[in-house]
Amino acid sequence: MRVFSGIQPSGPLHLGNYLGAVRQWVDAQSSDAFYCVVDLHALTLEISPDALREQTIDLLATLMASGLDPEICTIFIQSQVSYHAQLNWLLECVSTYGELSRMVAFKEKSQRQEGYRVGLLTYPVLMAADILLYETEEVPVGDDQRQHLELTRDVAEKFNHRFGETFRVPVGTQPKVAARVMDLQEPTRKMSKSISSPLGKLNMFDSPRDIEKKITKAVTDTDGEVRFDWPKKPGVSNLLEIFASLSGETPAQVAARYTRYGELKSDLAALVIETLAPLKRRHDELLASPDELRRVAARGAEKAAAVAGMVYQRAAAAMGLA
Ligand code: TYM
Repeated sequence: MRVFSGIQPSGPLHLGNYLGAVRQWVDAQSSDAFYCVVDLHALTLEISPDALREQTIDLLATLMASGLDPEICTIFIQSQVSYHAQLNWLLECVSTYGELSRMVAFKEKSQRQEGYRVGLLTYPVLMAADILLYETEEVPVGDDQRQHLELTRDVAEKFNHRFGETFRVPVGTQPKVAARVMDLQEPTRKMSKSISSPLGKLNMFDSPRDIEKKITKAVTDTDGEVRFDWPKKPGVSNLLEIFASLSGETPAQVAARYTRYGELKSDLAALVIETLAPLKRRHDELLASPDELRRVAARGAEKAAAVAGMVYQRAAAAMGLA
């Protein structure tokens, strides 16, 4: 099964990134899996060159600390495989302004940036290029990427229809629980790197004290009953999903064991700390050898380019490029 997914080096990962995406990647890793640090996508953010460089290496360390093994799967940096930017242009010439301006992520982000740049609009086309270059069958992502995946499928189908069978049409996959981890302070909004307040988002490598504090202060409700019920009890349901995702149970099974919010929260904090502490240690060890991380990325880029080059040439030829 050919698997591809990507993640932006836009700062420390939070629990939503880990449970919604990275853990699925670890489960799906094989010699047929490609995982990409999408630094070109991060250029759509306000980010300094030094921060981008640093966050890119840090993210490699985070992915490996989470269990991705470069001996098993391919881990690489998007900008080191030039076919991504090249196919992006070809696909921009089959995508329409209408379909891109309807993307929810674009509408939200463009409202927050005055004089937003064109890259914010065409962002999902580059994402389609990432995925289609690897003849991808499955794309493990969190729930917020569903619309981008649909666009990728539409672009692939449109291209195949107009220029002949060129791309495999992929599907997105989401985990059964924690596909959309919510903000701990505003549980009707997703946990987000850029929007969530410091108390609303749990970073993977927060200190145990911060993890405890954030979970203790998580917004719940006043009826005091531990029950899994998203519409009526989003705060508690979010905690139950996070718990279930870490313990391997269903949210209802977790709910059945608790009668008080306080106990649920303190057990959840202990479980999050216990799960993430070894990852943090490994991350720090890996980051102490940045040259080794760069070597991993270079080897990954070589393996990725061998596949991507073939697909790019096929697409370019189909469109009539010499
Ligand atoms: P990014 O970097 O914003 O997020 C990386 C992954 O984390 C998931 N995620 C969440 N899952 C559950 N709950 C949350 N609160 C939460 N927040 C984020 C995202 O769904 C994602 O899977 N456009 C992509 C990056 C990308 C990509 C690709 C993904 C570029 N090219 C090709 C897949 C395939 C993005 O911004 O992810």
